[in-house]
Amino acid sequence: MELTKEQELMNNGYYGEVLEKSMKLIIKIAEIYDAEKLVPIASAQIAGVSYLTVGEPIFAFFDKFLNEKIKVRVPSWLNPAGMDLQNWEEMNISQDFAEKQLKVLERYKQLGIETTLTCAPYLIGHIPKYNDHLAWSESSAVVMANSFFGAKTNREGGPSSLAAAITGYTGFYGLHLDHNRVPQVYVNVETSLDSYSDYSSLGYWYGKNFKDKIPLIEGIKEFDIDKAKAISSAMAASGSGALFYVKGFSKTIKGDNKYEEQASFSCSDKKQIYESISSSITNIELVVIGCPHSSEEEILLIHTLLKNKKMKQKINFWIFTARKTLDNVKNKGEIISELNSKGVKVYADTCMVVSPVVLNDYNYIATNSAKAVFYLSRKSKNSKIMFSNIEDILEMVTDANN
Ligand code: F3S
Repeated sequence: MELTKEQELMNNGYYGEVLEKSMKLIIKIAEIYDAEKLVPIASAQIAGVSYLTVGEPIFAFFDKFLNEKIKVRVPSWLNPAGMDLQNWEEMNISQDFAEKQLKVLERYKQLGIETTLTCAPYLIGHIPKYNDHLAWSESSAVVMANSFFGAKTNREGGPSSLAAAITGYTGFYGLHLDHNRVPQVYVNVETSLDSYSDYSSLGYWYGKNFKDKIPLIEGIKEFDIDKAKAISSAMAASGSGALFYVKGFSKTIKGDNKYEEQASFSCSDKKQIYESISSSITNIELVVIGCPHSSEEEILLIHTLLKNKKMKQKINFWIFTARKTLDNVKNKGEIISELNSKGVKVYADTCMVVSPVVLNDYNYIATNSAKAVFYLSRKSKNSKIMFSNIEDILEMVTDANN
């Protein structure tokens, strides 16, 4: 592989053991994919933050980095942690977990990584530029970076995104190359998409049937960042894709319109996804919204939909978002306090999947995200997860506010 002088020095240990190991990891992965060279990255987004998933072994790992006073070389951000940093007690997080989680975050901070704690960094100003090369690891954010913003990133793992952040490089292979960004499957959407969960069902259906192939989707009438995020997260959960195009919305579509396969997403396909992944439950204990993290608009929508309604007794309703989004909504007036007064909690820094309390404390859960259903139902066989649109969920969990 062609290496620059600086990359060679890193690889030979000139800058210390951590940079050497990080560069060797980047090169090893790049060689597996026959990359001819490495490419500088504009940013890294790093998963592997919740103490629930990283556990005790991460501290030995951090010790090596900190001994050599390692700092990341590019702007780098973190995925959600296992708890809301300000309201973890209210979430029923244990003191022990909280202390360990804070220690993990402190270590990341010492490496120069911004503790954004969100899977949707693009909603809080970290917007990738068109054609930027990135090393992002949260699968839904990877699809968003490639598809919505036209940046270039493969689906990095936690360790490889950290190694890329530390060295500033990743392998020039996969979706970094234009010829690998050509749509392979033509999808005609024949049914209406009326809610976040409908867009999520389209993504889930696509990932389940076409895995990592790149689709060009036609027939979508309305498209925006939240709808893109619903498709992205679901297709990356049921499949392994990292890029899709939407005709009429995507900026540049590579290739010459020759597809390997053609398919249509019909009303019965949509119905079948709802039926296959959703458990029918009448005794919802907890509603979780915000997978990926909710935008300001999504929080405001729930606020509007709750007008003249109140939560039924014993129903918990949690929205997950980024801290910055929560602060922005707080600055708009009484929205968060009004949501709180209706029994809706808005938690930042964490999510329903990476926090230990959701599955520990609740068995009957409703959500509008197919990705959340995918991971929650795999993590707990005892829990029943309902998948539906937000209006229908609210219908089940609220009463009129007379
Ligand atoms: Fe984000 Fe958690 Fe979903 S990290 S994409 S809210 S599983």
